[in-house]
Amino acid sequence: MAKKILTIAGSSLLLLTGCQSNQTSQNANEKKAKVTKEVWGKLPNGTDIDLYTLTNYNGLEAKITNYGGIVVSLMTPDKNGKLEDVVLGFETLDEYMKDSPYFGCIVGRYGNRIAKGEFELNGTTYHLAKNDGENHLHGGIKGFDKVVWEAVPDTSAGEASLNLTYVSPDGEEGYPGNLEVRVVYTLTNKDELKITYFATTDKQTPVNLTHHGYFNLTGGAKRDILGHELSINSNGFLPVDGGLIPTGELRALNGTPFNFKSPKPIGDDINFDDVQLQMAQGYDHNWILAAHKPGGQPELAATVLEPESGRYMEVWTTEPGLQFYSGNFLDGKYKGKGGVIYQDRWGLCLETQHFPDSPNHLNFPSTILVPGDHYSSTTIYKFSVKNEK
Ligand code: GLA
Repeated sequence: MAKKILTIAGSSLLLLTGCQSNQTSQNANEKKAKVTKEVWGKLPNGTDIDLYTLTNYNGLEAKITNYGGIVVSLMTPDKNGKLEDVVLGFETLDEYMKDSPYFGCIVGRYGNRIAKGEFELNGTTYHLAKNDGENHLHGGIKGFDKVVWEAVPDTSAGEASLNLTYVSPDGEEGYPGNLEVRVVYTLTNKDELKITYFATTDKQTPVNLTHHGYFNLTGGAKRDILGHELSINSNGFLPVDGGLIPTGELRALNGTPFNFKSPKPIGDDINFDDVQLQMAQGYDHNWILAAHKPGGQPELAATVLEPESGRYMEVWTTEPGLQFYSGNFLDGKYKGKGGVIYQDRWGLCLETQHFPDSPNHLNFPSTILVPGDHYSSTTIYKFSVKNEK
């Protein structure tokens, strides 16, 4: 792999390019996948935290930090080719460390909720951290969104990738077993943000890894996401109780405001008189993906069109479920990139995953990883434009 150390504005940049030859004439305008690295900030204990910039062949760019594996920005073109940021987030590491509603991070060990922070496995009851009322949410008080990942960039296949690894020790946040996790972000030359997750364990443990990007395809988060047209490839969803824990019912979508089988603006039914919508203050539910095949290839889970900019995003996944969260808890308290205040419904999350609270629902697909088995999961966010206006 080609490697160069550059010094720009006093900071050292490690530049990796996807091209083995012609290293000395590397030019910023050349069309090739690359990854650069800069020091972004420090933890209170002095540990340096880095920011990696992945650029693909077409000039799309993702900035990803090894703190929480957070995608800090993602630049994709609109219908006129203008590159703009399509994810919510902060400008500085300090803001992420202080208080973030999971902006852009890797979520684990268990994405979504586990009721009362408890589950039973082989006769033992495990007690997890409770960080969402009486329930456990997104891996606990210090989940994978707040740990430092070991990062190694890779462009050897001609695409910009970042390999992130983390070893979660036995007992962390109450979970059994040492869990070795690897997450690979690739900004492919087909304009996809591809995320692959791998894990192994030395004791049985629940694992449900996901990514918590808040998308706003207007570019630069110009307005809320109620005009985004969403489709979800699903025939049913999981109704929840007041703590947003699935009741165990699998409910058909027909005739409900949860029906996104054909593209529909998110705002169309969000204020519908419906107990499920009222309980979650909007959409914050898991859809059962129709095309999922256990052990199969990624299938189309959802599409999103932002009609003004023409930006179009497809979500493909190997996972059986999709948590669609309509940014109901954004209430103007966060000032994001460019000084934009993130109001209610300023971003939407499409979190691919197994169903919430699976360890307590034996009828849901299992999330228990067994020693000797290999957890693996793939999700692709694919970007293009549709010029309908
Ligand atoms: C998930 C949950 C939501 C909320 C957000 C973070 O999407 O389902 O209820 O907790 O994360 O604010």
